[in-house]
Formats: sequence, structure tokens, C-alpha cells
Amino acid sequence: MSKKVHIKTWGCQMNVYDSDRMVDVVAPLGYAPTEEVADADLVIFNTCHIREKASEKLFSELGRLRSHREAKAQQGGRMMVAVAGCVAQAEGAEIKNRVPWIDMVFGPQTYHQLPEMIARVSREKGVVLNTEFPPVAKFDFLPDTSITTKVSAFLAVQEGCDKFCTFCVVPYTRGAEYSRSVDAVVKEAGRLVHEGAREITLLGQNVNAFHGEGPDGKTWGLARLLYRLAEIPELKRLRYTTSHPRDMTDELIVAHRDIPQLMPFLHLPVQSGSDTVLEAMNRKHTSDDYRRVIDHVRAARPDTALSSDFIVGFPGETDQDFDATMKLIRDIGYAQAFSFKYSRRPGTPASAMTNQIDESVKDVRLQELQKLLREQQEQFNIATVGQTLSVLIENKMQKDGLVFGRTPYMQALHLAAPECLVGQEVRVGITSAGFQRLEGVVATVSADAA
Ligand code: 5AD
Ligand code: SF4
Repeated sequence: MSKKVHIKTWGCQMNVYDSDRMVDVVAPLGYAPTEEVADADLVIFNTCHIREKASEKLFSELGRLRSHREAKAQQGGRMMVAVAGCVAQAEGAEIKNRVPWIDMVFGPQTYHQLPEMIARVSREKGVVLNTEFPPVAKFDFLPDTSITTKVSAFLAVQEGCDKFCTFCVVPYTRGAEYSRSVDAVVKEAGRLVHEGAREITLLGQNVNAFHGEGPDGKTWGLARLLYRLAEIPELKRLRYTTSHPRDMTDELIVAHRDIPQLMPFLHLPVQSGSDTVLEAMNRKHTSDDYRRVIDHVRAARPDTALSSDFIVGFPGETDQDFDATMKLIRDIGYAQAFSFKYSRRPGTPASAMTNQIDESVKDVRLQELQKLLREQQEQFNIATVGQTLSVLIENKMQKDGLVFGRTPYMQALHLAAPECLVGQEVRVGITSAGFQRLEGVVATVSADAA
């Protein structure tokens, strides 16, 4: 390979997946990935639009890139620059106007067309703007090999969202809900395992709404897909993210009990503990609905570790509403969670609401909520000290003699162990725990923990 591609990724795991697939799409054109932006012949910024400041960050990154691009031109070379992802989708025209020297702007649904876009940029002057939602799915046009496969791999099975939570841009940037066929997913999973993956996380903005066409011509839900994937030998672990409480079907909950490869960890965003706020968010569930789902999941698999997303300071959120969220967190108990200040996203219904909350109030609430979540995460981790857990070793660390792995509960773990264990599940005695990670020793005798 003679050319180099540098991709910088912001945002969710779906963007990480997309960036890896972009590497695969341009590999046949002779591009090898590089960490060094100055070396790159092609730079792609894969952007996220879910919260504020994304576009400001992007414009300042582009400003910095310009000097590298000019340096390359002075040496007689050329650096093509592309903006991809959800900011490109939402603000393509503005990017084109503000950064006239940009070469390509394309959204999440058209990156399979990168070879044509690169060819056009080489031939013509001017910006290639490609933010359509083409009628054919990009998945059918992505390469069937990958040079980016990791021990823990992502597999996009569903994309887009029809839920229209009033704060969220996803239905506009990623489009309507779309599920891949079961055959396509199984084929990609087989390929990932062949390339060394031992854990697969199924991805989708609303992954548990998956409704793909099965090999029998019928529509399969996520549960049935998981049972099918669990038949793949050598695939040791399955996970899925991110889910909506309304789509936690009984069948899916039972799958948590019956599929040993399905890890005891569930990321199920609730956003708020207040029914008034949930209604204004158009979440289509109450806080009791959510509690019931969690009860069922815990009845099916009692050791399930829980994760969630929370938004504080949604328009109209009162102190009582916020207290209801804090109470919910105390009642449920989380192993980890993400939390955000509400951010007005242009074009979404909540951004036009007149009862916006002061930034200072949001700051105080977020701090209080994150303090509680941090305490819970630390307690959860400390509770595993003394246990023997199965850890999938994902990679070696920079420091010699250390490897990185994860427990079934998604806890990060550093371990003194040889590199040859990468890709294997190892029994590890947990010796210490902090908020962020565990440490342990390889167990000499295998115990019967998780
Ligand atoms: N403001 C703050 N947080 C948001 N999220 C989505 N949109 C917004 C917004 N406008 C959060 C939600 C979602 C996660 C991916 O990002 O909690 O679950
Ligand atoms: Fe956004 Fe998730 Fe709501 Fe869909 S379900 S609109 S992706 S927050």
C-alpha cells in the first residue's frame, strides 16, 4: 500500500464501526491506516452531532489541519480532506461554505461510495457533497474482508430510529429504522470470528428494535438473531447496544437467561426518572415501565450489571423531577452509566420549548448525579474483589508484560500476563478495584464463578 488514510472519530460505537469500515473501503485503493495526520494522503473526520459544540470542534480541527495540508502541497503532494458522519449529514452545506477548501462531505449512509468520491475529487475541482439517503443500503456494498478486526468487534445490525425522542437528532441524521437481514449479519459475524474476533457487540441506534428478514422469509427479532449467532463456534461472547426500554421483549429477556455467551450486562438508557419529563421527552415509557423491565431482566439473569444514559436539565425539569431521577438511580443501582446536560439540538422539538433550564442549574444537577453514579460504579467494582471472573483478553498494553481485558460485566481489567493470551478467556482472581478498573492475577485453579 502506498498511500495513507487517517481517520479521527467522535461519538458512539456506530461511528467507530463506520470508521473501521471506511478503512476497509479505501484499502483496495492502496490506502493503509496511519495515526499520523501529517503523513496522510486522505484525512477523514467522522463526526458526532448528538451534543453541543460538535461543529465548533470540527471547525477548529479543520483549521489546524490546513497547515498540514499546505505543507504537503508545498512538497508536491496532496492531502484530501473529508468530513463524514452526523455533523456532515446535518450541516453539509454550511461546512462546504465555511471551509471552501474541503474536498468531501458525506453522511453515514454514503461512505461505501468513497472510491467514486475520491476519483471525482482527483478529477475535478470543488467539493463533493454526498448526504443523500440512497435507496440501496450501504451494507450491501461494503467489502467482505476487514483489516481492522479486533478481539472485541462491533457489528452493525440495525441503524436509524423512528422513536423521535424530542431531544434527539438521530432520527434526522441516521434516518428511519433499518435492519439488516439475518443472513448478512451471520455472514459478517462468521467473517469477524475468522479474522480473530471472540466477542461481538451488535450495534444499532435502537438495536433491540431489530427486525431483520430471516432465512425462512419471516421477520426475526433480536432474540432470535442472538440464538443464531450463539451457534457460531469460537464466538465466546455476545453483547448488544444501545436499546430502548419499550423494545425489551419477553423473548429477549429470556435470551439473557438462556444464552451463556450473552454477557450479563445491559445498557438500557432511561434518560430520566420523572414521568413528566419522560412524557415531554416522548420516551413512550414511564419510570415504572422501566423498573418492571429491569425486574424481569434481573429475574432472568440475577447478576446482570446495568448501565444507562441520563439527561439532566431537560426543558421544564424541576427539582422534584431531578429528585425522581436520583431516586431511580438509588433504587436500581448501576455498574456504570453515561450522563449529560441537556443540549439544544437545532431542529428537534425540545430545542423550541420555552422552558429551558439555566446552565448553572444543569451544572449543579449533573455534578450531583455523576457523584452518585461514580460511587455506585466504584462500589460495584469493589464488590468483585475476591471473586474469580472470566476475562476476555483483548490486547497487550503499552507497558511490557501487561494485557487488557474485560470481565463479563464490562469492567476494564489490567493483568500481568503474556501476550499470547490475547483472544482467550482467562480465569482471573480480582485483587483490587477502583472506579475505572480492576486488577487481578491469573487464577491457577479454575473456580466456578461467572
Ligand atoms: N442533549 C443531551 N444528551 C443527549 N443525548 C441525546 N441527545 C441529547 C441532547 N440533545 C444523550 C442521550 C442518549 C445518548 C446517546 O446521548 O442520553 O441516550
Ligand atoms: Fe434518539 Fe435513542 Fe430516542 Fe431514537 S430512541 S430518538 S436514538 S434517544
